[in-house]
Amino acid sequence: MPFRAINADPRVMEFFPSVLPPGDSDTVFERIQRHFERHGFGLWAAEFRENQTFIGFIGLAVPNFDAPFMPAVEIGWRLHGDYWSRGLATEGARAAMRYGFETLRLAEIVSMTVPANLRSRHVMEKLGMTHDPRDDFDHPLLPEGHPLRRHVLYRIDRTRWEASGAVKRRLMKIGATQDSHHPC
Ligand SMILES: CC(C)(COP(=O)(O)OP(=O)(O)OC[C@H]1O[C@@H](n2cnc3c(N)ncnc32)[C@H](O)[C@@H]1OP(=O)(O)O)[C@@H](O)C(=O)NCCC(=O)NCCS
Repeated sequence: MPFRAINADPRVMEFFPSVLPPGDSDTVFERIQRHFERHGFGLWAAEFRENQTFIGFIGLAVPNFDAPFMPAVEIGWRLHGDYWSRGLATEGARAAMRYGFETLRLAEIVSMTVPANLRSRHVMEKLGMTHDPRDDFDHPLLPEGHPLRRHVLYRIDRTRWEASGAVKRRLMKIGATQDSHHPC
């Protein structure tokens, strides 16, 4: 199963406590399913457009732990290593973010990772999210002293998202469609 392979790859899981054996990967899959049933949204399966291959997940989730920034909805991603650095996480995350702000009418979306996960932080920055070191926190599901316990938090609120041009880009697209039907 492709999801098991992604979760068993040490490169993909570099910033997680361990790679996942098949049983643990299945548990994550079931947790994602339950999240959809409970909240109506979640970590969507990401398919590569050209060949319809399943390459991972990108989406929105309610964290299952307590922290100073809770309650919150986070945006997250995990893709097969063969598909990295083509802008795919950013493309999918933009769509997920639009869904969060336009359809779910969220006031804010957060994202989190360990400080060393520069790839993921770069995606957050490309999405217009900002990092205030005062929001950094120790992940409560990891024991004290664990090297991955410290986390950085990124945020974006709806006002900033609207100002980032994401809404304008869509309006321009509508304008272009109308133009193409114009008799002149
Ligand atoms: C994080 C992840 C989803 C990014 O996916 P992706 O499709 O490669 O992301 P994108 O291509 O949209 O953007 C990545 C950006 O990081 C840049 N990047 C790549 N390696 C980097 C590095 N070592 N340091 C800093 N930036 C880096 C890329 O060049 C790209 O930026 P650019 O578009 O300005 O060139 C992917 O690496 C992944 O699945 N990682 C493992 C799981 C994970 O860590 N998930 C996040 C947990 S919070």
